[in-house]
Amino acid sequence: MQAIQHIGYGEISENIKFTEIEKPTINKDEVLIETYAASVNPLDIKVIKGKLKGLGKYSLPATMGYDVSGKIVGKGENVSDFNIGDEVYAYVDKQGSFAEFVAVKQNIVSIKPKNTTFEEAASLPLVSLTASQVLKRANLKSGDKILIHAGSGGVGSLAIQLAKAKGAYVYTTTSTSNVAWVKELGADRVIDYKTEDYKTIVKDADVVLDTLGNQYTEDAFKVIKKGGKVITLVGPVDKETANRMKLNKIAKLYLAWKRRKITKNIKLKSAYYSLLLMRANVKQLNEVTNLLETGKIKTNIDKVFPLEDALNAILYVDKGRTKGKVVIKMK
Ligand SMILES: NC(=O)c1ccc[n+]([C@@H]2O[C@H](COP(=O)([O-])OP(=O)(O)OC[C@H]3O[C@@H](n4cnc5c(N)ncnc54)[C@H](OP(=O)(O)O)[C@@H]3O)[C@@H](O)[C@H]2O)c1
Repeated sequence: MQAIQHIGYGEISENIKFTEIEKPTINKDEVLIETYAASVNPLDIKVIKGKLKGLGKYSLPATMGYDVSGKIVGKGENVSDFNIGDEVYAYVDKQGSFAEFVAVKQNIVSIKPKNTTFEEAASLPLVSLTASQVLKRANLKSGDKILIHAGSGGVGSLAIQLAKAKGAYVYTTTSTSNVAWVKELGADRVIDYKTEDYKTIVKDADVVLDTLGNQYTEDAFKVIKKGGKVITLVGPVDKETANRMKLNKIAKLYLAWKRRKITKNIKLKSAYYSLLLMRANVKQLNEVTNLLETGKIKTNIDKVFPLEDALNAILYVDKGRTKGKVVIKMK
């Protein structure tokens, strides 16, 4: 079968190969999905560039891709939740969706929303699970004020809609050309970062979703209320997460040093700070399906590329200007 493989670490174009490989075999708890569409995430790029080596080892070459939609064409003997021919979508936690077929554990697969195309469905799993998990961790409630950075990105465009579905007041940042589009997604106050400073507009927020990192993580504490929450996707590792990572003493000390300014801000604001590392969660993906089917949220696709052109899809996402999601269409 045809696949896009990651063959080494570094420059994107030098470390991706469009190749022919064996069709995957499935174990007794897996389904074999014929891929109709997959979507590209900044995660794919971070993996190629070697930025996540610290979080675990990848054995190379590895088929890329975390989001998939398609049809079930094979199932292991323990699979009772699905039938051959079911239209499904999933966040594939061990990669492999940039290929004509992918083997996935049945307990992380969901039936595709009835009112979406395969391309639309493939745009959802990683970003919608991330946004759902952020709002859950923040315990976002109706009437809460949340600042969502990069509202025009894959995560932001979903997080805005999910936060509005919960009845929150949403501030979001984006650049001039995306302001009208992000407003349409439901944000209450869209802040054009080219002409406005969000720090002078957002006051006493209950929650900040930090998708940008560096100075944005630190500055989140300037706009939250006392006792507010900062959930980051890219900022320094918080103490609880570091403890769960089973690191040695030196690595823990290094992470504590990296978050020293955050630690100061947590104390100053009596704040909650957490680095969210998203996980597959079929219950949450089924909730996303429900919200889509009842018209409470919609998908946001920027561009669709054919499998042969996956390199350009990845290079496009690497520019960091994606409006919603980039999808690779296989069938
Ligand atoms: N920890 C986790 O589990 C997890 C999960 C998902 C994602 N992430 C990470 O979270 C980050 C965001 O992911 P994503 O998929 O949303 O990325 P993305 O779709 O690539 O984000 C692109 C968007 O960011 C906007 N943007 C760039 N700079 C901005 C700025 N200074 N202010 C406001 N908006 C800005 C761009 O809008 P303009 O063109 O208008 O600037 C563009 O629409 C990535 O680093 C990703 O790896 C982490």
